Amino acid sequence: MKKTYNWAVLGCGKIARKFSNDLKLLPNAKLYAAASRDLSKAQSFASELGFEKAYGSYEEMVNDPKVDAVYVATPHSHHRDHAILCLNHKKPVLNEKAFALNLREAKEIVKAARDNNTFLMEAFWTQFQPSFIKAMEIINSRELGALKTVRSDFAFNGPFDPKNRLYNLELGGGSLLDIGIYPVFAALRPLGKPDRIKAMADFASTGSEESIAMIFKYDSGQMATLASSFAAFSSVQTEYWLENGYIRLNRHWNTPTTLSVFNKEKDKEEVLDYTDKVGFGYQYEAAHVMECLDAGKKESDILPLSFSLDLMETLDRIRDEVGAFFPGRD
Ligand SMILES: NC(=O)c1ccc[n+]([C@@H]2O[C@H](COP(=O)([O-])OP(=O)(O)OC[C@H]3O[C@@H](n4cnc5c(N)ncnc54)[C@H](OP(=O)(O)O)[C@@H]3O)[C@@H](O)[C@H]2O)c1
Repeated sequence: MKKTYNWAVLGCGKIARKFSNDLKLLPNAKLYAAASRDLSKAQSFASELGFEKAYGSYEEMVNDPKVDAVYVATPHSHHRDHAILCLNHKKPVLNEKAFALNLREAKEIVKAARDNNTFLMEAFWTQFQPSFIKAMEIINSRELGALKTVRSDFAFNGPFDPKNRLYNLELGGGSLLDIGIYPVFAALRPLGKPDRIKAMADFASTGSEESIAMIFKYDSGQMATLASSFAAFSSVQTEYWLENGYIRLNRHWNTPTTLSVFNKEKDKEEVLDYTDKVGFGYQYEAAHVMECLDAGKKESDILPLSFSLDLMETLDRIRDEVGAFFPGRD
């Protein structure tokens, strides 16, 4: 019989709520513990979502021997400390994106996983969306020829709040690590790390990067044009331009969505519907974590830690290019 995993969420914020709702879709996942810095917040989160236990500190939760897997859902400024806390207690970790603030911190998390021989994966949920998987299948099949260009964006106009994690440098503020990471992921998955990067950014009054435009160039001749912003709305789409057609992951391309495929031979766009009728789409990554744990794996073959390090390194290179730094951390 399949093992049922006792999940804990570390941090009772916005994304933890959505993820927990999707966990309910998985028969082998149990909503076991909600951990917050504030016990009353943990208690109300736990009772709203159906967690069995509520902890008023992250430390208490990681000391509970019944916890089988932890979803780290704090701001990215805290991923290193919180992921390492769990790993040092031998708790398997699904660590939200951005994996860390920079490559140095990302390597520290990976080292903790290896030192403790404990499972670790970045919660890059897009990797597990059926729509994204289908797009990669079409690219890899070469039925539309070779991939030449990636065009991807992610922007919305959130209200400016200097204390909010989106703008607060102490909480990892900036559009790149929050949403620009998705367009970067869209390019890295099929093309790998770029040979050259050009980027320009605009900054908010807090010093955090607010809008960023990026161009990747590969010695193979492939390119990517990518952008993110907190100052305006974009279509939130990704296009893959191939020699004999294109694939477009439609709004919101990073979630379960529709796929438009244009084939030069047919001269028309075909739409494939992968929208999710039951959840937000976080259940796929959680299901994959449990498959890995069932198989005794310490990392995922589909989303390995080497990819998370490549992604973090690329984000560092982009921030260097535009001069977007986290004072005291970079
Ligand atoms: N995969 C996705 O679709 C997706 C979507 C949105 C965000 N994210 C990622 O998920 C992470 C959390 O985002 P969110 O929007 O859920 O954030 P949020 O609601 O602002 O906060 C997350 C939680 O982190 C905890 N926390 C710990 N130390 C903190 C500190 N010093 N300041 C503020 N909060 C602190 C708090 O929980 P307690 O008070 O309970 O301790 C807070 O509720 C980010 O890294 C973000 O990039 C992913």
